[in-house]
Amino acid sequence: MGHVAAPTDLRFEHRTDDGPVLGIGTATPRLSWIIPAADPGFIQEAYEVELTRGGGASEVVRVASGEQVLVPWPAAPLTSRESAWVRVRVCGAGRWSAWSDPATVEAGLLRTGDWTARFISPRELGKLGAPAPVLRSTFDLPAAVVTARLYATAHGLYEATLNGCRVGDQVLAPGWTSYAHRLRYQTYDVTALVREGGNVLEVLLGNGWYRGRLGWDGRHAHYGDRLALLAQLEVTTSDGRVIRLGTDTAWTAGESGVLADDLYDGQRTDLRPRSGDRTGAVEVVEADLARLVAPDGPPVRVTQTLPATAVFSSPSGATLVDFGQNLVGWVRLRARDQAPGHEVVVRHAEVLEHGELGVRPLRTAKATDSYLLAGAPLEVLEPSLTFHGFRYAEVGGLPEVRAEDVEAVVVGSDLRRTGWFSSSDPQLDRFHENVVWGMRGNFIDVPTDCPQRDERLGWTGDLQVFAPTAGFLFDSAGFLSSWLADLVAEQRPNGSVPLVVPNVIDSPLSAAAAWGDAATLVPWVLYQRTGDVGLLARQLPSMRAWVDYIAGLAGVDRLWTGGFQLGDWLDPTAPHDAPFEAQADPDVVATAYLARSAEVVGLAAAVAGDADVAEKYARLAGEVRDAFAREFVTPGGRVLSDAPTVYALALAWALLPTDDQRHHAGDRLADLVRASGFRISTGFVGTPLIMDALTGSGHLEVAHRLMLQTGCPSWLYAVTMGATTVWERWDAMLPDGSINPGQMTSFNHYALGAVADWLHRTFAGLAPAAPGYRELLVRPAPVRSLTSASARHRTPYGDTEVAWQRSEGRLRLRVVVPVGAVATVHVPGRPEPVRVGHGSHTWQTVDPVEADRPLRAEATVRDVLDHEVTWRQVVAAATETGVVGDEAEAAARLQPFLDAPSSRLVDALALAPPGFAKGRRALHARLDHLLPP
Ligand code: BGC
Repeated sequence: MGHVAAPTDLRFEHRTDDGPVLGIGTATPRLSWIIPAADPGFIQEAYEVELTRGGGASEVVRVASGEQVLVPWPAAPLTSRESAWVRVRVCGAGRWSAWSDPATVEAGLLRTGDWTARFISPRELGKLGAPAPVLRSTFDLPAAVVTARLYATAHGLYEATLNGCRVGDQVLAPGWTSYAHRLRYQTYDVTALVREGGNVLEVLLGNGWYRGRLGWDGRHAHYGDRLALLAQLEVTTSDGRVIRLGTDTAWTAGESGVLADDLYDGQRTDLRPRSGDRTGAVEVVEADLARLVAPDGPPVRVTQTLPATAVFSSPSGATLVDFGQNLVGWVRLRARDQAPGHEVVVRHAEVLEHGELGVRPLRTAKATDSYLLAGAPLEVLEPSLTFHGFRYAEVGGLPEVRAEDVEAVVVGSDLRRTGWFSSSDPQLDRFHENVVWGMRGNFIDVPTDCPQRDERLGWTGDLQVFAPTAGFLFDSAGFLSSWLADLVAEQRPNGSVPLVVPNVIDSPLSAAAAWGDAATLVPWVLYQRTGDVGLLARQLPSMRAWVDYIAGLAGVDRLWTGGFQLGDWLDPTAPHDAPFEAQADPDVVATAYLARSAEVVGLAAAVAGDADVAEKYARLAGEVRDAFAREFVTPGGRVLSDAPTVYALALAWALLPTDDQRHHAGDRLADLVRASGFRISTGFVGTPLIMDALTGSGHLEVAHRLMLQTGCPSWLYAVTMGATTVWERWDAMLPDGSINPGQMTSFNHYALGAVADWLHRTFAGLAPAAPGYRELLVRPAPVRSLTSASARHRTPYGDTEVAWQRSEGRLRLRVVVPVGAVATVHVPGRPEPVRVGHGSHTWQTVDPVEADRPLRAEATVRDVLDHEVTWRQVVAAATETGVVGDEAEAAARLQPFLDAPSSRLVDALALAPPGFAKGRRALHARLDHLLPP
């Protein structure tokens, strides 16, 4: 009894490095661990941390505590460069576990004064439009090397080599932050790359986000027009010396073979050996070193390579390569036996149109890489100072392209995968896979809207709706903590939040509901998913400032009305060139967000221990809710403007005062979904909430019909069209295979994939019930048409899983709870929930999902819509007889008749303006036997 396994996965802050955590940006990193197994009933009562600093004596600190996630650093703070070797053991009921494996953490350069290096820039070379510069230093080391670290960052992108070997495995370093306020530096262990005697450090600089093109207005050089490098090499030699070499004017500059590089436009590279290269001097550029920050999350890396699935000729004779997956990165190509100076050109696109690359959605981004070959028997062609969003590539200039000579290199922030979902429906699983790929392609140091066109910006609203899904699928805490620090840095003194973070667009719009609310809702989601109180407390002033600002805009009536809003962006009924013209009233959307954000600030203040502030914002939220109900809701429960999104908001965020109103609003929402033929009719705002609103108001079956719909528009429609990522528009590709004519037509936008969070929490049934998943709420929602679903998540406490399976009238449920957590489990069909501790639990019950029942005799038109089998026959008959064009039209015609007896269905269907539709008689003949008389 009382056995507990040794802790594993010792982590520092939110870093997920394999191996030593170098260059951490705090002197007191918080610790977390997982307890992989323990006897039932084990409860951690104490832990011990053993720390050994810099190879010296160790100390053991004992703490009486049940915490295992983000516990405080238990010893004296680290100093810059100091490392500690740490291990942990835990105790419950007087029994200690074995020690965990040790983990190493090393502080970065914590004080500005630790930098002796200065930013240097080539004096003549490397101007905008000139070849990418290489900065070079040669140096001697007087003795053998014991340890060596390189600290580096740049204005622009940098790629370092030491004695010809690439330093680190990051790409697109230093990544993108709000450079004017925060610039990340990286720490590399280069012990194996330097040596006694002569050494060469060379660093290639690219334009990247700093000086390349950003935004759709063609502007370059948002942050400055000079590339610059800051690098500091620190070597400890065997004779005990510490040698520090920093960028200074002794460095030289040269020109690389990279003739042009831009994130949007691509890279042009001359691979011929360089003779008589131009060299030049460098000079120190003044730059504020107080902006330097250490990374909170993982760097951008190559995370995978994908082979070509097909190479073929287009109708115009171009050579096209299909990688079978819409992805983000670049193409790696092998060329053989070409003449020196021969040109190869690679263009990219996400889709084909009329058999050719569909490049119109890229707008002005050229997304073209080109090479002037060296003329070697075998050359590997690959850029590194750009990235593209693509599934297809067109290769020009090679007489033959063999599939084995070309591959796609996937790049992105190297986030640790933490969440999985699967079901018995392959289309649903493909949709989920598309959500995962959408995140992989758009979490490139900054959470972006899209990765392919002349945009790729950190749109706040997109992330706001996607954050819960992101937090489940990948360990996003460090990544988003950094992005939120940028949001704070760019928030204006009046509290307004830019539309994009980092902010590179000049928008007259000072406050957009759902976009600016990223300031409040993203920290709250992160707190829910990670339990990080410190992060929440850090964000609280920013959260308050945003709410104060929008409360000011709302004024005394507490209604946030008037002014331009992005609103329920990309509602499928909005004209393709006016994505903000949604069915949902923008004032209703804005006021709902004000209520939600005020409420969240109140909750966050309570967590941070500030009762007065908590009270103040809770009161504000209450006032806004009252105003919302007074102004926008009828006593009966209709919500202005009677669109699914306004009901989704009102129900999901408890904006309706009475049970009656809630009840009616839920019914109304379900009827609107029925009347749309179970097709989606929400945009960015309603889409993440509609499933919760339907489920929470007792319309689970309607929710399932909406989720599993494959007609256009719907989540699965894109899957039926061969999508491998989530699209920006419900109909980015139209049913006839042509590309939506809208200006904004990305095939890789994560926002509408936000419903995956519902799949995890509700459909599979794995939800957090206390911060960090310390308590789980397991409440699966099985459906008739599927026989199984499961979700798996690596929580801060360890692995958890919920899996349900239906067969032969039985339902089996399996729940895995990690040590340190508890779960409340609602076994489907059982009246009372059960509470269980850690371990694996299974239940078997009678399958509560009703078998297909016959339509009852007194069925209404609504009942017919709800009866999937009958409804399908009705739609088939109505379309085949020419009474309606499709399911959506049939459902829309029936909307006014939902309460009518089903005997009136045919006449209702045939009652088309103007007058009577043709085919009524034929439809009667087809349906009379089917519907109750
Ligand atoms: C982006 C969206 C974004 C929107 C807001 C678009 O161009 O791609 O995802 O949220 O603009 O205006």
